[in-house]
Amino acid sequence: MARVSADQLHDLRRRVLRDDDPEIYHPDPRDGDATSLHYAGFIGSRLVVSASFFPSAPPMNPSLVTFQLRYMATDFDVQGRGYGARVLAFAEEDLRSLGVGQLWANGRDTALGFYETVGWLRLEGSEHLSPETMLPHTVIYKRLASDAVAP
Ligand SMILES: CC(C)(COP(=O)(O)OP(=O)(O)OC[C@H]1O[C@@H](n2cnc3c(N)ncnc32)[C@H](O)[C@@H]1OP(=O)(O)O)[C@@H](O)C(=O)NCCC(=O)NCCS
Repeated sequence: MARVSADQLHDLRRRVLRDDDPEIYHPDPRDGDATSLHYAGFIGSRLVVSASFFPSAPPMNPSLVTFQLRYMATDFDVQGRGYGARVLAFAEEDLRSLGVGQLWANGRDTALGFYETVGWLRLEGSEHLSPETMLPHTVIYKRLASDAVAP
């Protein structure tokens, strides 16, 4: 697991999260920002898992500046082998070392079981459709510091 640059992640994000459709996959406008953090895991030289974090306030608490997880993806043929859990553990440790107390994300409902397995919590009443994909999502969060406030 390692920090990477966003341009290494576009192929995996497009294939796993946007149906391999270049018409609907666009790099995130914040990808190149100095404050954005991108993580990946490899099998040999092949990149198989990705997660990106952007400074962002949770929608329900605009005064709380924290990091939003986006573009969490494991390549199809290696899903269920622990790569997603490992890249998040690596990223969370790195973010904790930078003083980040809390994370949030819009989690796909089909992936909520994954997030709960690795310690994320659902925000009750936050169910919604993603305006980008029209898929059902729920706001999820994880406290990295014991004194972090709830979003
Ligand atoms: C969701 C995703 C990122 C999980 O990554 P992964 O590498 O397959 O997950 P892991 O193998 O690390 O799984 C860790 C644990 O979560 C569980 N898990 C994984 N995916 C799950 C799911 N969709 N629902 C319920 N539990 C799940 C695993 O069984 C494992 O549990 P265990 O530790 O008890 O064995 C991956 O399946 C994926 O890319 N899915 C398609 C894209 C997507 O939905 N991304 C999330 C967008 S918000």
